[in-house]
Amino acid sequence: MMDQQWMAEQLEQLKHQSQFRKITTTQAANGAAGHLMRDGHSLLNMSANDYLGLSQHPDIAAAMIESLQADGVGAGASRLITGSSAPYARLEAALAGWHGCEAALVFGNGYMCNLGTIAALAGRGDVVLSDRLNHASIVDGIQLSRAEHVRYRHLDLEHLESLLVKHRDARRIWIVTDAIFSMDGDAAPLTELVELKQRYGAGLIVDEAHSGGIYGPRGQGLAAELGVSSAIDVHIGTFGKSFGVYGAYVAGSAALCKWLVNKARPLIYSTALPPSVVAGTLCSLHIVQRERWRAERVRAAARKFRHSLDEAGINTSGRTDCPIIPVIVGSSDSALRFSKQLEQHRILASAIRPPTVPDHTARIRFSLSASHSELELDEALRVIKRTAMETEFADE
Ligand SMILES: Cc1ncc(COP(=O)(O)O)c(C=O)c1O
Repeated sequence: MMDQQWMAEQLEQLKHQSQFRKITTTQAANGAAGHLMRDGHSLLNMSANDYLGLSQHPDIAAAMIESLQADGVGAGASRLITGSSAPYARLEAALAGWHGCEAALVFGNGYMCNLGTIAALAGRGDVVLSDRLNHASIVDGIQLSRAEHVRYRHLDLEHLESLLVKHRDARRIWIVTDAIFSMDGDAAPLTELVELKQRYGAGLIVDEAHSGGIYGPRGQGLAAELGVSSAIDVHIGTFGKSFGVYGAYVAGSAALCKWLVNKARPLIYSTALPPSVVAGTLCSLHIVQRERWRAERVRAAARKFRHSLDEAGINTSGRTDCPIIPVIVGSSDSALRFSKQLEQHRILASAIRPPTVPDHTARIRFSLSASHSELELDEALRVIKRTAMETEFADE
């Protein structure tokens, strides 16, 4: 076997820098969304992206079981090879209608969706202007595309405009952004981005991974909330977060979806999602639209949570009412310590460390869910404030 000493050495180095990662074991808490079990203890789960509390929804489970029995357990091949089963066509038609677009296309997950879509749309001679805090899957998609990758300062429209001017002779210019930034919970200025893209003839790709389900009159995302949806060229969304299931989609023109069927490699060269997952997602899409109280509830909880931490002088990032509320701690070591102490009080809130976030901005990313009760969140706030005081991370 090849000498693997180099791995062991570098892993030791990661440990030394408080950047070593490992996967721990947890179990579902008897169907209670918003909770997890570890070592026989129930933990309030403040780390998942299950914002609407749908991951344990019995109707979604029933739709999946029905499809498992009708369609089997696996898709068996890429959709291009064996075609796709009925739930796919129903979900894609529903997604297109939901976004008011001509077409939609389901992908295996959000990572594959960003990777495949961006690499299929941009190429040599093109420039992709990307917010500096965009998700890793966007960064990797741009790298893979061979287009020129230019990052603009986070949310900085002036910087972006200067780059649009600088690169105006490129074959095509794409602007790509998260709608809600996954580690900061702040929002992209989509109205202004639409103005800029129209002024400079650029294409705009918006990833609604953390805003889908939460914003928009029917949960379509931030672009719909702001009334600029029809000006976005490529809508991307995921099903593993607010939808509580798994998978992702692109919505846009019929030409865009035909192009992606022919060019998006993760779609072409990978086995399709099991039909049951697609059927479950279709059920979830109906619930997202029908039960808007879930989004209203988690947004109200987020406003209260953020306000309460601010009042206590705890440095939260992001100024929206989205359910991602990061408390910036500074060093990875302090973030790990903070997280461990919270777990002793039955709160699961993982430390997020570089390179997921910029150096010296390690944090605890609290994420709320509509399934958390007011009582649970009040108690969590008390524990977080007390632990923050004891940990004294503020001096980092
Ligand atoms: C903005 C953004 N896009 C895409 C993804 C990837 O989605 P998935 O988990 O479905 O692969 C994530 C995941 O965290 C994300 O935060």
